[in-house]
Amino acid sequence: MSSFNPVELILKKRDGKSLAADEIAAFIDGFMVGNVPDYQMSALLMACYFQGMNPAETAAFTQSYIDSGERMHFADSLLVADKHSTGGVGDKISLMLAPIAAALGLSVPMISGRGLGHTGGTLDKLEAIPGFKTQYDIAGIQKLVEQHGYALVGQSDTLVPADKRIYALRDVTATVECPGLITASIMSKKIAEGARHLVIDLKIGSGAFMPNLRRATELAESLKRTGESFGQKVRVVFTNMNSPLGHAVGNALETAEAIEYLKGNTLPDTQAITERLVARMLQSSGLFPQEADAIAAIREVVASGKALQKLEEIIIAQEGNPKVIEDYSLMGTTQYQQPVLAPASGYIHTIDSRAIGYALVRIKAGRMKMSDRLDYGAGTILTAKIGDPVQAGDTLGTVYANDAAEAPKVAAMIASAYGITELEKAPEELILGEL
Ligand code: URA
Repeated sequence: MSSFNPVELILKKRDGKSLAADEIAAFIDGFMVGNVPDYQMSALLMACYFQGMNPAETAAFTQSYIDSGERMHFADSLLVADKHSTGGVGDKISLMLAPIAAALGLSVPMISGRGLGHTGGTLDKLEAIPGFKTQYDIAGIQKLVEQHGYALVGQSDTLVPADKRIYALRDVTATVECPGLITASIMSKKIAEGARHLVIDLKIGSGAFMPNLRRATELAESLKRTGESFGQKVRVVFTNMNSPLGHAVGNALETAEAIEYLKGNTLPDTQAITERLVARMLQSSGLFPQEADAIAAIREVVASGKALQKLEEIIIAQEGNPKVIEDYSLMGTTQYQQPVLAPASGYIHTIDSRAIGYALVRIKAGRMKMSDRLDYGAGTILTAKIGDPVQAGDTLGTVYANDAAEAPKVAAMIASAYGITELEKAPEELILGEL
C-alpha cells in the first residue's frame, strides 16, 4: 500500500471486517516511522481485541513485527531450538533447560524477559549472578550460541522492535489479552531469533494469565498454526501453575535452586516439567526421536555434571562470576528470616500463586513497574505442596528479606494464600495436556 488512511482501517476492523496483510503492514510500518500516532494504534488494538483476529491477520501482524527489525540466521547444520513459557511463579525452568539442551547438542538462543507484577523473569534471576551480562546485539547473541551452544540474554533492541513498542501500548490500554496479538508478540520473537523447533510451556492456573484449559487451547492453536505457517515446528505443553514451581520464589533463591538441580538435587515438579520440555525439543529436532531415549539422555547429562559445566561455561562467557555455583551467597543475602505458618489444620487444597507473587513485591523480590529496583536475595522457600496434610502452626516455608518490617507481613500474606480444608486432597497433575 503506497498511501493509506489509518482511520479507514480502524473503522474496517471496528466493524468486524478483516484486514488484508498489506493493510496491517502499512499500519505497523506507519506506526514505526511515526506516521501513525499512539492513539490510532491503540484504537486498532482495541478493535482487534473486541473483533478477534483471524489466522491470516495474526500471521500478517507476526510478519510485520519480524520485518520491523533484524533476524538471526544460523547455519543449517545447527539444530536451533527454543522454549517459551507464558510465565508463572517460581518458574526457573529455563535455567535448567537451556544448559541441558545445549549439553545434548541443541543450539538455544534463549531470549528472556524481566519479571513484572506477580510473575518472575529469567533475566532477573540471571542478573542475580554478579557481573552476568544479559544485553547483547544480534551478532553477539549469535556468537554466543555458535560458540557455546546457547545464550541466556535479554531481547536486543533490533529484534522485533515493533513488538516492544506495541506491547508497551497494549499494557496501558487493556489490550494484552487478545490471542491474535499475544501470538504475534510471542511468535515474531521466536521466528526472528531463528528457532526452527519451539516448545511452548503454556501455563494454566492461579499463577498464570490463562485461567483454564479452554482459553489456553485457543491460544495454543493460534501459536502452533502461526509458527507452522513460518516453517517452524511447534509443540505446546500445558502445565499446571496452581502452585509455585519448585520450592524457591525470588531471584537468587531460584537461581540457586536451578544450580542444585544441575548438581543432581532435583525436585519432582521442576524435574517433570524440565524433562518433558527438553524431551520435546530433542524429539522435534530429530536428535532423540523417542521420548524414552530423550529422557535417558537428559538424566545422563545431569548425573554426569555435563549440564552444570555448560552452565558454568555460559556464566564465564557472559562475564558472570562462576563462583556462584559453589557459593550462593554471592548472589545476594538477607538479614531476616520469617517462617510461614499454616493458618489451619487439614489438607492444602489451593495455593494462590498470584497472591504469593504480589506479596513478594513488598520485599523487592519482584517489581510492580519496570523501573523498580530488585533485592536479588529476597524471596521465599515454600516446601508445602497441594495435597499435603498440615497442622495449624506447621511451617509451610520461610520468607527471606532485608526489610525487617515487611518480612512478617509478607509471611502472613503468603500463609493466607494457602487454602486448607479438612477434606483430603490428591496432588494435582503437573502436565495437563499437549498439542
Ligand atoms: N508474552 C509476550 O511476549 N507477549 C504477549 O503479548 C503476552 C505474553
